Amino acid sequence: MRETVLTSKENYMDSLLLEENENKKMSRQFAEELGLARISISPAEAQLIKTLVRLHGAKKFVEIGTLTGLSAQYLFEALPEGGELWTLEKDPRHGEKSAKVFANLDQSKKKIHLVMGDARAELERISAEGPFDGVFIDGNKAAYFDYLTWAEKNLRVGGLILADNIFLSGAVWGQATQQKFSEKQIRIMQEFNQRLADPALFEAAVVPSYEGLYVAIKK
Ligand SMILES: C[S@@+](CC[C@H](N)C(=O)[O-])C[C@H]1O[C@@H](n2cnc3c(N)ncnc32)[C@H](O)[C@@H]1O
Repeated sequence: MRETVLTSKENYMDSLLLEENENKKMSRQFAEELGLARISISPAEAQLIKTLVRLHGAKKFVEIGTLTGLSAQYLFEALPEGGELWTLEKDPRHGEKSAKVFANLDQSKKKIHLVMGDARAELERISAEGPFDGVFIDGNKAAYFDYLTWAEKNLRVGGLILADNIFLSGAVWGQATQQKFSEKQIRIMQEFNQRLADPALFEAAVVPSYEGLYVAIKK
């Protein structure tokens, strides 16, 4: 257990986990240097996505939004031998830092591919490697619906879809938030959440984590 001041449910959940290893700490440090520590995944949510991917048994997995490679490390750990992770990032500063942490991973039994560029275009390019077993959507909010459309085409039946920040800090149900979201971002996230709720297409559930995590299986 880590020594933290337990002021909230989130801190308490994080405190139950083992301290993150040096490479994950490096990702957090890089995010801090970029002034983006607050958008890195929390330890508890990272452990949740890792556990879900491990339970699912996914071998070929895609992540949209690498930042400094933190959630990618958890996903990579969840993959079995022979597994592959494609992680997509648009910002070269984030890519440069992620490449440094990925260079420290043992890739002799599984692989991680850092794919630089706009995810909408890059997803089309990597489609040839599919069908994939799962995707973690954690990139730009305005493109979430497009990412889901891609997943519907490129995941196998039974594929796993994980999507973070689906509450937009409460903006999806009309709550005023400190972080400003555009009308377009809110509308797209509402449409995204509604589509995942369609039982003809997905078996899905919302995990009421701080940011909201959608967990769905493609039918
Ligand atoms: C919330 S952060 C990802 C956090 C990361 N998954 C983690 O928890 O360690 C979102 C990332 O998506 C990237 N991003 C934003 N727009 C993008 C786009 N169009 N294509 C690819 N990546 C994008 C941002 O640069 C940022 O690094």
